[in-house]
Amino acid sequence: MSAETALVTGGAGLIGSHLVDQLLHSGWRVRILDNLEPVTHAESAPHVNPDAEFIRGDVREPTTVRRALAGVDVVFHQAAYGGYMPEVAKFIDVNVVGTARILEAIRADGLSVRKVVLASSQAVYSEGAVNCDQHGLQFPPARALNLLETGEFDVPCPLCGGIAQPALTPESAAAGGENVYAVSKYAEERLSLAWGLQSGIPVVPLRYSCTYGPRQSLGNPYTGVIAIFVTRILNGLPPVVFEDGRQTRDLGFVADVARANLLAAVTDTWDGVPVNIGSGAATSILELASLLCAELDPSLQPVLSGEFRVGEIRALTPDTSRAEAANHFPRVGLREGLRAYLDWIRAQDPIAECFSSAAARLRDTGMLRRTAAATAPRRSSTIG
Ligand SMILES: NC(=O)c1ccc[n+]([C@@H]2O[C@H](COP(=O)([O-])OP(=O)(O)OC[C@H]3O[C@@H](n4cnc5c(N)ncnc54)[C@H](O)[C@@H]3O)[C@@H](O)[C@H]2O)c1
Ligand SMILES: [Zn+2]
Repeated sequence: MSAETALVTGGAGLIGSHLVDQLLHSGWRVRILDNLEPVTHAESAPHVNPDAEFIRGDVREPTTVRRALAGVDVVFHQAAYGGYMPEVAKFIDVNVVGTARILEAIRADGLSVRKVVLASSQAVYSEGAVNCDQHGLQFPPARALNLLETGEFDVPCPLCGGIAQPALTPESAAAGGENVYAVSKYAEERLSLAWGLQSGIPVVPLRYSCTYGPRQSLGNPYTGVIAIFVTRILNGLPPVVFEDGRQTRDLGFVADVARANLLAAVTDTWDGVPVNIGSGAATSILELASLLCAELDPSLQPVLSGEFRVGEIRALTPDTSRAEAANHFPRVGLREGLRAYLDWIRAQDPIAECFSSAAARLRDTGMLRRTAAATAPRRSSTIG
């Protein structure tokens, strides 16, 4: 079979750039469409593989999108506006309208695209699944604000209100999105799946967990917990942890996440269904912050700010059985992945710390709130 042509939107970003490398390595012809979003790329030069064709342009711009799609067999749609920011319209515009532009152009021009692989997110889940001794596996709704305000962070059983243990979250769990980014990713996913049914072109939304690795944006203060902690520590400041630090995330190494895209292009078992892509292991945020301090500056300790972000999931570890059934297994564990990331970051120019101003902006917009239990001396303004 002659080489196929891939379009990687967002191919200058974290996941997209690793995906581009892997596709080229596997013999694909690759075209990148990326507008080099300033929020993402302000602090460091984007990584654009010179063996790929690069179109600097916006997924929202119909003429550019049509040009980028010419002769493409598989679209890997990675471009998105990401993170936990106060913008509303821009998330919907880039993530939902941008996706719509791509889908529309494929059908309007009768293009020969044979599959669309989509970067979805585990942010689409309302909350991680829990297990109750009495009621078994449950899929709770988002946590109530009044409980968070009193420092009740753990997720109770939605049926009896009793203590429940975090459980693996399958793709069938309740989804919808509890913050603006998450809503935009869920809309992107639903829109693409519905369009896939209508058009007969298979769509595969991959629900990535928190992805990290070399080339992650250092200038975007709202995405990538590891990048945010590391830039604080490298500036001699303690990482700031919300809630009680016992919230957990699944941390996926970028090369593993990128590799799932190549599999999505060739297997048909994922066509038309969302697929969790992650490590399948829970890491608490406090544990992560402590680990990074120990590696980079043992004189620092994480600080609990006594705050919480509205619309955050408490504990999310994906059930990755669907991915495993198609033979996708992560290869890089957290320690090895962090080592690769830290080696990369040590080779970068000094990086400005931008978390403090970002946190102030979130406070001003009500997205970052204090728990009543938090005491005055730990006020966030003293954290810097
Ligand atoms: N990194 C994570 O933890 C994570 C987790 C779940 C899902 N995702 C999803 O994976 C995808 C890739 O994420 P990432 O971490 O590589 O992000 P990233 O910000 O590193 O890369 C995104 C790329 O898209 C480009 N882009 C942004 N807006 C664009 C536009 N309007 N037109 C063209 N290009 C545009 C940016 O310039 C950037 O190069 C995104 O869709 C994101 O929502 C990421
Ligand atoms: Zn119960």
